Amino acid sequence: MSASTHVAARPGLPARAGQSAPPLAAADYWYFFAGFLRRPWKVGAVAPSSARLARTIVRHCHLQKADIVVELGAGTGAITRHILESIGPHTTFITLELDARHVARLRERHPGLKIYRESAENLRALLARHGRKTVDCVISGLPWGNMSRRAQQRILREILAVLKPGGRFCGFGYVHAGWYPSSRAFHRTLQQHFRRVGISPVVWRNLPPAFVYSCT
Ligand SMILES: C[S@@+](CC[C@H](N)C(=O)[O-])C[C@H]1O[C@@H](n2cnc3c(N)ncnc32)[C@H](O)[C@@H]1O
Repeated sequence: MSASTHVAARPGLPARAGQSAPPLAAADYWYFFAGFLRRPWKVGAVAPSSARLARTIVRHCHLQKADIVVELGAGTGAITRHILESIGPHTTFITLELDARHVARLRERHPGLKIYRESAENLRALLARHGRKTVDCVISGLPWGNMSRRAQQRILREILAVLKPGGRFCGFGYVHAGWYPSSRAFHRTLQQHFRRVGISPVVWRNLPPAFVYSCT
């Protein structure tokens, strides 16, 4: 496990506030697709999230005043860069990604932003190493629909254990996967554990089309 935090500075991003994050490079798509070929079930998508989807997620997260934010399953950073733009100057931002090459790509794109190569299943232990127990917001890029019920439960347990009262859990699901038994089970579990589970309209400009969920 390698340590990582991001406080205040925005490594690898434009300095000017309000400036848009640069678009993904063709290489990001290649890295991502290669990751999918290596481990299709773990990566769970053929392309990184679109800027439209990433912006929709971040908009639901209200990150400006967050003290600490965690991203799970960052991939090549399609959402990461929008999170970096949205957090406040004193927000601690921690990113987890399992795939070694995705981690390498993330570090290349955001030098100075340290990333954990770690499973979301170890979220609590990872935060403890950081001297932290709770977070304001967990943003997920994880492929829940491809996971076993047990894996879903293990990760959700971690998320629920670290969310502050009033904390928020956001992520996205693919429209076509909405009918998978695993996706339906995941949605039912969210409704059991959160007071409110909001679902956005479909973001069509994404491959494949997706929706955002936001749970409090
Ligand atoms: C659907 S991709 C999304 C990537 C990126 N967030 C995006 O939106 O383009 C899912 C990512 O989750 C990672 N992943 C899968 N299981 C994981 C786990 N248990 N812990 C951390 N990352 C995981 C995969 O390696 C992959 O990069």
